[in-house]
Amino acid sequence: MIPVTKTYLPPLEEYTAYLEKIWKSGWITNNGPLVIELEEKLKEYFEVKHLFLTSNGTIAIQIAIKSLGITKEIITTPFSYVATTTSVLWENCKPVFVDIDKKTFCIDPSKIEEKITGSTEAILATHVYGIPCNVEKIEKIARKHNLKIIYDAAHSFGTIYRNKQLAHYGDVSTLSFHATKLFHTIEGGAIIVHDDVLAETIKLYRSFGHIGNNYYTMGINGKNSEVHAAMGLCMLSRVPELIEKRKELYEVYTSLLNPQKISIPSVPEGTLYNYSYYPVLLENEEKLNYVTNALKNNNIIPRRYFYPSLNQLPYLNKVDSCAVSEDYSSRVLCLPLYNDLAINDVKRIIGIINKIL
Ligand SMILES: Cc1ncc(COP(=O)(O)O)c(C=O)c1O
Repeated sequence: MIPVTKTYLPPLEEYTAYLEKIWKSGWITNNGPLVIELEEKLKEYFEVKHLFLTSNGTIAIQIAIKSLGITKEIITTPFSYVATTTSVLWENCKPVFVDIDKKTFCIDPSKIEEKITGSTEAILATHVYGIPCNVEKIEKIARKHNLKIIYDAAHSFGTIYRNKQLAHYGDVSTLSFHATKLFHTIEGGAIIVHDDVLAETIKLYRSFGHIGNNYYTMGINGKNSEVHAAMGLCMLSRVPELIEKRKELYEVYTSLLNPQKISIPSVPEGTLYNYSYYPVLLENEEKLNYVTNALKNNNIIPRRYFYPSLNQLPYLNKVDSCAVSEDYSSRVLCLPLYNDLAINDVKRIIGIINKIL
């Protein structure tokens, strides 16, 4: 079976060497030495002053919203994983959806200002598939209207935009280190922030809101453990090699899939992309179903990332429609892309698709 993605696992002996250290020290969670080591290494990697590991990428978004003191409306993208929207809802804020750009599939900045009201406090945008949002335009709008910017950078590990790590942009960026991601800690995530005061607030919220016996605020448990950090430490040095391998497969797809029948999101100029997904936009949903079934008949399992368009989630009360996102969600499919996927398998997938379209 060829799944849409497969977790990369480092050599077992490397991981067990860390486990032996953990067993010896008996320190398994609560900001242990491996969590601190990984945080330090990731700060260097991203060239940022503050980075906090979290238990996952969803709690990272929630802590970001809470720490910024946002309680009302958040402008957000309808084209992302469901956690982007549910984090807004869990924080009792109102998601206000702005449609996406036809080329990058990220939020369309030209449509943001018309959705700003007196209650708008932030923009929460996703660098979807690791492709940069239009960070310059978003920044301009946010500064003009005094809004905070949170980037859901869950897919962005390793993407560089205009000589800076993509996760560097915004007031806060959140990452997911889930096992399906390019860089992972089995479960996990991180919050990147630049402001010192905000960093202290985030740290407090991540650990129940208390330091020792002093209770400062109503926090949550967003920490991560030593066994998770150990996986991250095994993964980090491999990131360039993992990106290189994905690039190779990505380029095979791009060079051989029929461009008359399929389009892919464009990566803006100035980007060194991380090649974390291979999404294809088919002509319509019927074609998507053909392709899905043909691949499934060959034991190849693509995935409808992202479907449905988040403004159409069944538990939302009346929200505006987003024509581009709804259209794209109905006909976008992610094809298999992972480290040990063979080039011949990619060619086989392409052959099946080109034949039936
Ligand atoms: C865009 C996006 N945001 C947030 C998340 C949530 O991350 P996690 O699964 O680590 O909670 C994901 C997860 O897959 C995601 O794709």
